[in-house]
Amino acid sequence: MKILVTGGIGHIGRATVAHLAAHGHDVRMLDRIPKAEIAVEAAEEVRGAEYRQADITDYATLRPHFEGIEAVVHLAAIPDPIPGKDAEIFHINCGGSFNVYQAAAENGIKRVVSASSINALGNGYGTREIPIHYFPLDEAHPGSTSDVYSFSKQILEEIAAYYWRREGISGACLRFPWVYDSRWFEREHDHAGEFRTFIQAAYEGLMALPVAERREQVQQTFARWRELQAQHRNGEIDDEAMMTAMQQMPAAALTFGRNDFWAMLDKRDAAQAIEKAVLADYTGSHPLWIVGSHNATGLPTQGLASLMYPDVQTWMRPVEGSESLISIDKARALIGFEPEYALGLAVAL
Ligand SMILES: NC(=O)c1ccc[n+]([C@@H]2O[C@H](COP(=O)([O-])OP(=O)(O)OC[C@H]3O[C@@H](n4cnc5c(N)ncnc54)[C@H](O)[C@@H]3O)[C@@H](O)[C@H]2O)c1
Repeated sequence: MKILVTGGIGHIGRATVAHLAAHGHDVRMLDRIPKAEIAVEAAEEVRGAEYRQADITDYATLRPHFEGIEAVVHLAAIPDPIPGKDAEIFHINCGGSFNVYQAAAENGIKRVVSASSINALGNGYGTREIPIHYFPLDEAHPGSTSDVYSFSKQILEEIAAYYWRREGISGACLRFPWVYDSRWFEREHDHAGEFRTFIQAAYEGLMALPVAERREQVQQTFARWRELQAQHRNGEIDDEAMMTAMQQMPAAALTFGRNDFWAMLDKRDAAQAIEKAVLADYTGSHPLWIVGSHNATGLPTQGLASLMYPDVQTWMRPVEGSESLISIDKARALIGFEPEYALGLAVAL
């Protein structure tokens, strides 16, 4: 299939282009980076794919690159809520996304798959904690965004739904958690055992306490965490303060990763999900959770949730062992997604 990948030279883009090319697709990648400025290793990773330089916010120059294309993978975006860049993030992530779908529509393309984010829910980068009504989370759980990046992903999902209603462009907006490259951890594996022992001990120590005392410790940790977050704009906690908090309060080690429900994804699984969402036979526009099959701590999920989300009492179905707190049942049913990789432990937490 002839597939256009926007943001093709980025982190997930390169993995996607390489995966699609390896699976026999004819790939055209589009990015705003001039070809001459692409790093040698990045160019090597996407060797064989056609490269087009264009800015998705400039509709007139963007549109011609969609000619001859059968399906679009839309990844181009600012992937974080960079402080002070709200207007630029909205302009690129929302205005640019509108242009991508519009160019697809004008070229008769009927399948667009986009990178949404775990942040479409609003919990990770949000300036306000959102109410969690039940576990495991699914696509029906309501979100509430309060930062521009998360809001831009909420809008992206709306744009995709609009183009399904208006133009019959089917597709999925894949809600990825933090997407890692397993090679990033090769040097850090020496510390993995140490970290596992640390979080395991924190978990077991807390679970051994009477329920009221356990809750009290967790509440104190949340309060301290909020203080640290307030001191550091946009939720950035400096490493030293975090290490001190972790030594003083066992629950702090488990707080890190909590806002993302301890979900992570290998970039190879992101790429296979993208290809499946392009090829699968379905109609409509679908937000889809695409996360690893297990929580990244390796700890028992129900115990972890009862400790760190003590107010959530409703379980839509039981989860087994360290199975993810976010359900991928819909992705399994709609596109046949099944994660193939796991770190075994969140060495990056
Ligand atoms: N990396 C993650 O952990 C993660 C998690 C969830 C969702 N996502 C989403 O996945 C997508 C890809 O993320 P990534 O981590 O590969 O980011 P990245 O920054 O590595 O890649 C994004 C690419 O988009 C390009 N781009 C940005 N603005 C552009 C514009 N105006 N016109 C054309 N190209 C433009 C950049 O040059 C870059 O190559 C993004 O939509 C991001 O929001 C990423």
